Amino acid sequence: MGPKALGVQGINQEVDLSILSKKQVTLVVKREDLLHPFISGNKYRKLKYNILEAKQRGLDTILTFGGAYSNHIAATAYAGNLYGIKTIGVIRGEELSENWMLNPTLAEAHRHGMDFRFISREAYRRKSESTFLKLLDKDLGPYYLIPEGGTNVLAVKGCEEILTPQDRDFNVLCSSVGTGGTLAGIINSSLSYQRIIGFPALKGDFLKKDIRNFTAKENWEINTDYHFGGYAKVSEALIEFINYFKEKTNIPTDPIYTGKLLFGILDLVKNDYFIPGTKILAIHSGGLQGITGMNLVLKKKNLPLIKV
Ligand SMILES: Cc1ncc(COP(=O)(O)O)c(C=O)c1O
Repeated sequence: MGPKALGVQGINQEVDLSILSKKQVTLVVKREDLLHPFISGNKYRKLKYNILEAKQRGLDTILTFGGAYSNHIAATAYAGNLYGIKTIGVIRGEELSENWMLNPTLAEAHRHGMDFRFISREAYRRKSESTFLKLLDKDLGPYYLIPEGGTNVLAVKGCEEILTPQDRDFNVLCSSVGTGGTLAGIINSSLSYQRIIGFPALKGDFLKKDIRNFTAKENWEINTDYHFGGYAKVSEALIEFINYFKEKTNIPTDPIYTGKLLFGILDLVKNDYFIPGTKILAIHSGGLQGITGMNLVLKKKNLPLIKV
């Protein structure tokens, strides 16, 4: 991104909750969510070197993929607008072509200049096949392709900049996992005595393999107990936790990624997973733009809303 943005770091905020003092565990949240309202958290990290690369290759269009509530779609649209690059979002779900303007994430992305191609879920599953991309290629001019979730080698390189030298005092580092790029970056820049725990926001055992594509280190594990039924699935208990955590700590979390992460960490603390004296750093990877869309879904289901 712009030279001014290079070197930006999230501040570390300690969490003060009685369960932590009772168990003698320190929990600090790295507020990457405060980097930017739209290009926040891991999105800033993932897009930074990709945008530089697109510019260097002389490509003036970025094409990428995502679902209706994708933080990556929101961030790519905003960044493209900021840095003078056209953006095209290939969006999962043909039905959205009729009413995308009612979806807060897509409406915001469009406001920042993103052009959409809505495709069926079936076609979306084939999006990485070269024939599919060639079809798109025929319709569109040259573009720089960023995969779903924004994860590629350059994204991982950006995520390697999340940790700073002051983070060497932490012995456990925790982050939410979608495609695994953020966790891989954190693992790559971690120190050998640090243990990294990834909390997937979705179901499936493909993640370990995906993460190994981007790191050769072994000081990490995946905890699959806190996905709450899968991607974008939430429960009343999770919503209540998000509201409680915000009220107590003044740290907002999102229902898809970081709420599940903090719920998981504190549940593990409660169940004595960490020995007394453990110092945990949790990465707040952003995603707060998704709250508005989730609240519309919660309202329809008569569930409690996330307080903003
Ligand atoms: C807010 C937020 N946190 C965490 C993640 C997971 O990151 P990754 O896909 O690199 O595992 C995502 C998805 O990209 C996200 O939007």
